[in-house]
Amino acid sequence: MNTHGIKPVRKAVFPVAGLGTRFLPATKAIPKEMLPIIDRPLIQYAVDEAREAGIEQLIFITGRGKAAIVEHFDTAYELEATMAGRGKTLEVLEPTRIQPGNLVTVRQQVPMGLGHAIWCARAIIGNEPFAIFLPDELMIGAPGAGCMKQMVEAYNRVGGNLISVLEVPREEVSSYGVIAPGAALDGFGGLVSEVTGLIEKPTVEAAPSNLIISGRYILQPEVMRVLEGQEKGAGGEIQLTDAMARMIGTQPFHAVTFEGRRFDCGSKLGFVEATLALALEHPEMAADVRAMAQRLLGA
Ligand code: UTP
Repeated sequence: MNTHGIKPVRKAVFPVAGLGTRFLPATKAIPKEMLPIIDRPLIQYAVDEAREAGIEQLIFITGRGKAAIVEHFDTAYELEATMAGRGKTLEVLEPTRIQPGNLVTVRQQVPMGLGHAIWCARAIIGNEPFAIFLPDELMIGAPGAGCMKQMVEAYNRVGGNLISVLEVPREEVSSYGVIAPGAALDGFGGLVSEVTGLIEKPTVEAAPSNLIISGRYILQPEVMRVLEGQEKGAGGEIQLTDAMARMIGTQPFHAVTFEGRRFDCGSKLGFVEATLALALEHPEMAADVRAMAQRLLGA
């Protein structure tokens, strides 16, 4: 407990059991979460963001064909021995090292939806608040101020449940979970507000706002009980948004507007945009990438 009587967020769930059908055939044998943006797979960006926010235990909800994700965070003896033998530094592998005992995998035997994937972690979560990362949503904040770090800072003051949100053009809301925003909280510069309702993939007419849920959450463990008895929702899947909507009114729910950029790397266009954006900022590549892009555009 901190001085506000709030339990710290020490655990994070990474649901990675989805089928990744939008990237087929690339994702037939390789998990979507292992597709790289420049030289790091998507899952690495999410794990880095979790660690920056002070999260200790990583819980991966995996399924068939997802073994490479766990391998990525294991020690690769042959590789390390060969690299060391060639006089190469192993520093590049540092982000893949996990403290023994801090990586847990849970199998979601059938991908029945995000809500179901989260529910699979109930025994590991126990009675603690926890974070959720959807690794195909790449959140890039200022150095040292990633999305989850911003959320944990808000959480340590307000507690309860927090959802990361951002604005999209109104005609795009039907692809996302959308919030009904309430009053802004004092002392957060307009970035934290109450959530009075949530709806998954509404029609443009039915959407309560153009603020969408953007792949990062801090939730209280009671959500597991709500998910337990939940019926299927949009797309015939057990939806996390529906479970959270049912908790509103019984627990505090707030939205945090992320100060940074979000790339939807679950879609091909978003993935290409993220690659281009990060390449154009990469200290070693930026100048060459810019020249290459200009050449390709005939500019
Ligand atoms: P998506 O909606 O992006 O689905 O899931 P998907 O299967 O990964 O990709 P497409 O739409 O077929 O291309 C959002 C997140 O929830 C996880 C996914 O792995 C992704 O991180 N998920 C989804 C599960 O872990 N289990 C599920 O049953 C569904």
